[in-house]
Amino acid sequence: MPCYPVGRITALQSFSFRNALIMSKEEVILQSAAHSDSSTGRSSSGVGLVITGLLGGAVVGLYAATAPFVAPALRKVCLPFVPATTEQVQNVFKVLRARTGTLADIGSGDGRIVIAAAKHGFKASGFELNPWLVCYSRYKAWREGVHHSTSFHISDLWKVSFAQYSNVVIFGVPQMMDQLELKLASELPSTAKVVACRFPFPTWVPEHTAGEGIDTVWVYDAKTFKSDQQHGTT
Ligand SMILES: C[S@@+](CC[C@H](N)C(=O)[O-])C[C@H]1O[C@@H](n2cnc3c(N)ncnc32)[C@H](O)[C@@H]1O
Repeated sequence: MPCYPVGRITALQSFSFRNALIMSKEEVILQSAAHSDSSTGRSSSGVGLVITGLLGGAVVGLYAATAPFVAPALRKVCLPFVPATTEQVQNVFKVLRARTGTLADIGSGDGRIVIAAAKHGFKASGFELNPWLVCYSRYKAWREGVHHSTSFHISDLWKVSFAQYSNVVIFGVPQMMDQLELKLASELPSTAKVVACRFPFPTWVPEHTAGEGIDTVWVYDAKTFKSDQQHGTT
């Protein structure tokens, strides 16, 4: 190492140290800026991905939850979920009070008719298009202790045969009742009874009615409507 007078060494050293310090400060600033750019870039793109994922999940979840409720309204015959009133349910079992055996609720909604039927001693089944309502009905039947005498099926009412049922309940809409008359008349045994809630069948003659206004129910005897259909009276 060369030997310099003390004063000179100090001047040179001070110049090069300052320079070195300035350089390293700039480098540090540049490096840390580059580092923070890349790290915030990474973290902000990560946050973006999480937000996009959450939004996507929320949209898919919302669609899955609501589509089964909207779908019936988009079919050729629009039959939305409108639960029976308490009076309506009572009227159904008033007109079926002398009856036992199997019962089907066509379009069983949240399962209230099926559950009430089980409590009245029927072996009851619900047929419903909406899977959420079927899950809810099964849960409610279990909670109310009637799961052994009830069953719920995710099915399209037009694709199911009701031939094995001796009691059938329908809370339909007027646009479907003429088609349903033909289906039930051809499938049901002559010992069956059919109860229509809120909207009657267009050509069948009811045996009895119960309730009034929106709570009205009509009960029909299969022997009568089957023979009327055979003889072309309806
Ligand atoms: C008016 S609500 C009656 C609900 C229940 N029976 C009651 O009285 O509380 C009609 C139900 O039929 C269901 N539904 C509509 N179209 C259907 C179809 N093609 N097959 C089976 N169920 C259907 C709807 O999802 C709705 O829950």
